[in-house]
Amino acid sequence: MKTDPVERKPLWREEFSIFKADEKYVSRRQLTKFLTLTSLGMFAGNIWILAKSWMYKEPSYPVKAVAKVAEIPVGGVKLFQYPGPEDQCILVRTAEDAYVAYSQKCTHLSCAVFYSKENNRIECPCHEGYFSIKDGSVLQGPPTRPLPRVVLERRGPELIAIRMQQEPEG
Ligand code: FES
Repeated sequence: MKTDPVERKPLWREEFSIFKADEKYVSRRQLTKFLTLTSLGMFAGNIWILAKSWMYKEPSYPVKAVAKVAEIPVGGVKLFQYPGPEDQCILVRTAEDAYVAYSQKCTHLSCAVFYSKENNRIECPCHEGYFSIKDGSVLQGPPTRPLPRVVLERRGPELIAIRMQQEPEG
């Protein structure tokens, strides 16, 4: 019986060595395969993250009437829920034709903030965190982030909440 001069190893022998000494040996082909598959996996993961961040870039908010202009006197306050039924907000009429609204949840540890008319600012009773009535920025205390603002629009006799704004406009 004739044998092939160049003896060929079966493929399974290259992939699964039966010799203990060869077990730790990684061929160039195996390394290339590993690197290619890892790179493809990372590429696919990055595409997934990019697509997800692109899809959820702008959260959508409901457009909702939150108060009637006539029901709040100058310096008066109204509480309402926005954007969801659990999201408590505070609206303050700061002048005859000026209104501001913020999330009522303190950005420190989520205590309910209130409007202090004598100090003309929003205050948190838990750790004396104070926020500007103009833009919700932190004036004093442990909070490091401003109060999220509810963007309002006046439509005739009503004040309409149109979206949330996380940072004051620069
Ligand atoms: S919870 Fe508001 S200052 Fe701490």
